[in-house]
Amino acid sequence: MATPPAASTDFASLPEVDTAVFTAPLKRPAHVGEDWLEPAQTQYTAEDDRIWDDLFDRQMSVLPGRVCTPFLEGLDRLSLGNGGVPSFERLSRELGALTGWSVVPVPMLIPDHVFFWHLANRRFPAGNFIRTRETFDYIQEPDVFHDVFGHVPMLTDPVFADYMQEYGRAGWKAMRYNRLKALGALYWYTVEFGLMMENGEPRIYGAGISSGPTEAIFALEAESPNRIMLNVDRVMRTDYVIDDLQPTYFVIESFEDLYHQTVERDFDRLYRSLGPSFTYANSAVIDVDDVLHRGTQEYFLRGGRGSSAKPV
Ligand SMILES: [Fe+2]
Repeated sequence: MATPPAASTDFASLPEVDTAVFTAPLKRPAHVGEDWLEPAQTQYTAEDDRIWDDLFDRQMSVLPGRVCTPFLEGLDRLSLGNGGVPSFERLSRELGALTGWSVVPVPMLIPDHVFFWHLANRRFPAGNFIRTRETFDYIQEPDVFHDVFGHVPMLTDPVFADYMQEYGRAGWKAMRYNRLKALGALYWYTVEFGLMMENGEPRIYGAGISSGPTEAIFALEAESPNRIMLNVDRVMRTDYVIDDLQPTYFVIESFEDLYHQTVERDFDRLYRSLGPSFTYANSAVIDVDDVLHRGTQEYFLRGGRGSSAKPV
C-alpha cells in the first residue's frame, strides 16, 4: 500500500471522509445536523424511567464481584442508580469536573467519522431512546441504558478517559489508510467487550458485557469462550460477532497497559501491513497468544443465539 498523505491533526473540525473509505452508509435524520446531535435529550415517560430502574437492578444483581472496581466507583460517583434515566446535563457537569468529558444525545448509531470527532473532543454520544419491555432482554442498536450505564462510568477513570479520546483521534489515521474495520475490532474487543485483571482474576470493563445480564456471567465463567491477554496488533486482525455472545474475550493488565499498547503503537506501519479483511476467525487461538482460558466453543458449536444452546 502506498503511504497516503499525512492525516490532519486538527481534531476540532469534523473530518472529511473520502468516498473510497469502507464505512457503513447511515441515513441522517432530517432533524439533526452534520454533528448528528439531537437538539435535546428525550423527555422520558414514567414507564421509561421504570425500565431504566429495572435494567439497573437486574445488572446490579450480577455485576458486583464481576465488574472492575473503576466501573462501580464511576456508577457511584455519578449516582446512576438514583432512579430514572439520568440527565445528560447533570452527567456532563459532573463528568466534566472529573475528566473533562460530556455526554451528548444522538438519535441512533452515527457514522464513524462523526463518532471519532466527538470522542476526540471528549464528547460521548449516547443513544437518546430507551428500549421497551418487548426488547428488554436484547436490542442490537445501543440505547440510553447501554450507552450511559455501560460506557459512562468508565469515563470517570482518568486513564480510560484518555484512551477513549486517543481512540477517537486514531480514527483520522484509520480513515486515511481505509482500515476502519481493524480499528473497529480494537474498540469492540476493548471498550465493548474488554476484560481486565484485578487481584489476579479477570473482571469486566467492556460496556457490551456490563450492560447485559447473560454476557456478564458468560464472559467470566463459561467454559465456551477463549480468554486471551490483549495484543493490539492481533486484536486488530480479528473478526468479531455483532449479534451474539463473543467466542473470544481479550484481557488487559490495566488501563495504563491498554493506553500504552495503543498510543505507543505505530499505526502507520501496522495499517500498511494489514489487508482489508480480517486474518483471524473470532474463535481462533494462535500460537503467539498468551491464553488464560482456551474455550470449548460449545455454545457456538451448538448453534448460539436462537438455538437451545445454554450460554453457561
Ligand atoms: Fe457501546
